[in-house]
Amino acid sequence: MEKLRLLADLRQTLSTQRNSGKTIALVPTMGNLHSGHIHLVEQARKHADFVVCTIFVNPMQFGKNEDLDSYPRTFEDDCEKLTAAGCELVFAPTVTEVYPNGLDTQTVVSVPALSTRHCGASRPGHFDGVSTVVCKLFNMVQPDVALFGLKDYQQFMVIRKMVEDLCMPVRIVGEPTQRDTRGLALSSRNGYLSQDQMQCAPALYASLEQARNALSAGNSSASVELSAKEFLADQGFDVDYFNISHAYTLEPARPTDKEIVILAAARLGSTRLIDNMRFTLET
Ligand code: PAF
Repeated sequence: MEKLRLLADLRQTLSTQRNSGKTIALVPTMGNLHSGHIHLVEQARKHADFVVCTIFVNPMQFGKNEDLDSYPRTFEDDCEKLTAAGCELVFAPTVTEVYPNGLDTQTVVSVPALSTRHCGASRPGHFDGVSTVVCKLFNMVQPDVALFGLKDYQQFMVIRKMVEDLCMPVRIVGEPTQRDTRGLALSSRNGYLSQDQMQCAPALYASLEQARNALSAGNSSASVELSAKEFLADQGFDVDYFNISHAYTLEPARPTDKEIVILAAARLGSTRLIDNMRFTLET
């Protein structure tokens, strides 16, 4: 697997691949790779001839008091996993390579409406940072297809809207959330959890399942959200949000809506976990 840090080298390698008729898949990551990322790389191989993974901890999507400095950087380990998964090229640029003019004057790509609720409300500016860096990575790699995990459902919807609104010639694929045997969604941030917190963490997924069942049984969104928050608090979580929403607009679900996503974020100690459940309500 080729490892590159400079944009000029990336462009050269990829133009050789493109000129030989190969299609390109991109898996953007922030590193500290787990089996969820590796699943994306393996799926990427089915969509294109040449798989590129980017590893870049993007400062633009972290708030002032967030974990940018402590975010785990595990490059050598990540490269071993990517090689084993059949990734052909890893691009791991420095912050200066991605933002040569600094962050203060960086052009921002902002996807309105979808970016402001849920994680966007708790982490102001987060999705502008995500859409801007993903737009840059798309321009750097110029992939035919890009794969994202649906654990970050709101991120996926924001990126899909950006691509549609800006006519970007890239197909966006969302892959189902990878979970451990107890239902806990795989996430780089699970590594911050203590043993005790690890025991409590699957309750987040359990709360989503309970909520889906309660909604299917005809309970109102408001009562289901309230019960879920109480359940999570009892399990030791500090709930950020637990929102029953329309699956496409991400607005609060109306009683007549059938396409639903439940989005949740909650803290165990200082570790913020997110998860979601997407389903169609049967009448
Ligand atoms: O999901 C992530 O890891 C990041 O938000 C992404 C898409 C790589 C952009 O930095």
